[in-house]
Amino acid sequence: MPLKVGIVFNYLQLPDVLQYPFVINKRTDDIVIKKGMFVYTNSLEGFLIGIVEKIVLLNEYFSDALTIKAYNNNSNPNILKGLFPSDDFEYAIAIVRNLGIIEFSANSKDSIEKISRMTYPASPGKEVYLIENKTLIDFIGLDEKKGLNLGKLNSTDIEAKINMDRLLNKHFSILSISGGGKSYLTSIIIEELLTRNPSYGTPAIILIDVHGEYTYLKNVNKIKNKVKLIDMSYFQASVPQMSPYIFRKYQEQISHVQIRELAKTIKKLRERKDNNGIYGIKDIIKSIENDSDGSKSTKQALIGWLSELDRLTIFGPQENPTLNNIVNQGELIIFNLEKETSIRKKQILVDYICNRLFYLRRLQKIAPFLLIIEEAHQFCPEAAHSKALSKSIIETIAREGRKFMACLCLISQRPKKLSTTALSQTNSKLILNIKNPYDLKHLMDSSEAITKDFTDMISSLGVGEMLLMGNAVNYPVFVKVRKRNFKSNMETIILSKVCLNWKIEN
Ligand SMILES: Nc1ncnc2c1ncn2[C@@H]1O[C@H](COP(=O)(O)OP(=O)(O)OP(=O)(O)O)[C@@H](O)[C@H]1O
Ligand SMILES: [Mg+2]
Repeated sequence: MPLKVGIVFNYLQLPDVLQYPFVINKRTDDIVIKKGMFVYTNSLEGFLIGIVEKIVLLNEYFSDALTIKAYNNNSNPNILKGLFPSDDFEYAIAIVRNLGIIEFSANSKDSIEKISRMTYPASPGKEVYLIENKTLIDFIGLDEKKGLNLGKLNSTDIEAKINMDRLLNKHFSILSISGGGKSYLTSIIIEELLTRNPSYGTPAIILIDVHGEYTYLKNVNKIKNKVKLIDMSYFQASVPQMSPYIFRKYQEQISHVQIRELAKTIKKLRERKDNNGIYGIKDIIKSIENDSDGSKSTKQALIGWLSELDRLTIFGPQENPTLNNIVNQGELIIFNLEKETSIRKKQILVDYICNRLFYLRRLQKIAPFLLIIEEAHQFCPEAAHSKALSKSIIETIAREGRKFMACLCLISQRPKKLSTTALSQTNSKLILNIKNPYDLKHLMDSSEAITKDFTDMISSLGVGEMLLMGNAVNYPVFVKVRKRNFKSNMETIILSKVCLNWKIEN
């Protein structure tokens, strides 16, 4: 039986097509009508679903200043209370924003056939009911069976089980201020993906972990055999995979003439039979030195640039670890960049990894993957002057990845600094608290679904509360993010304790 919660009435020029008010029934059970709850009424067009947007408490006794004055001045307010039963006159009004007309399928009253736009207001005098869970789950587009459980829908006890395909397919982003809970939410998504029933199909997960925040996952017994932790200090990019133009991408000063010299040398090294196609930067340098023709100054300058690249200790004769061997479906690879301080080095590493992954995916040499990039504004910034080496490939994956099932998750605390091209391609957005007005404006610019109303709500979200919108759901919803199941040792680190135990180790 649907639960009656009130009756539509006329209040301040309403109902209109977009909104209607209803007087909330006084209740004897403990159900409280709150902002964010989903309700319906039967309008001329049928089942009209809406969301409670505002609640107003009214009491005629206290709407008149003189009465309040008399009430206040009286030495014994209890006498007045006896005369005027003011408590009985308190009533609450809810203002509902209409979301659409639901048509149910003819053979099952439970499943939604179609949702269409309403064109006619709710009728005053009609009952308002609370939406039943099953209908709401269908309306929002949750996946009760196979979905990723991120927490509970606000003001309900419905688990926010997000359909994985819908979330990943068109990329997604996680945005909030620092400390808003982005990494926490990411670890919950990873928990869900790694513990998902293998028969449901799960992509490989690749995580660019800038601060080493996810390394604890390697120590969790339940999943540790599915987690590979790669310390980027030992990572090697493969020189034979690099064309002369890739060298120039990483070392911009290389001139056109030098590129020609480099191309000639690389061609020679590739054709040589004695090295099995394996060579490093040092071999290129040696080969340039031994080359008898060509201008000496060109060669000297080129050797200088190549030596500088070599000193970064990123490039080797072979890729290590070999990416096509380690990317497996249903498993997580963490590239831990914790120890890297040079932003250029970090960008080269991220650029190399993203390029290789996308290339391998296009050739179907690795499983479909989800690539999660923490601090994405460092690797794919908006500003033209901060030339991030990895920007172009991240934008390419954002634009074209979907066709090849290369999914992207961008995490950032400064949406304004994140490339608009990339951000606008992340169709689903998981937004936690954002306070900065510039960031909010940037968000509004990057997605038309984010209206002024939403930005007001985003700036008042608490820790662990998020707005989920975009392709993952039919309608934007607020979710209380659940607690994580696998604990990180970061959670037990407390400033005062660290101070007490601090010793400088010589
Ligand atoms: N859903 C949640 N439940 C309980 N606690 C949470 C939740 N989300 C976040 N927190 C708390 O907030 C803290 C900060 O979260 P987190 O490290 O994820 O922030 P962040 O957005 O990644 O910040 P930064 O941008 O600085 O990386 C966490 O350590 C945790 O204690
Ligand atoms: Mg974080």
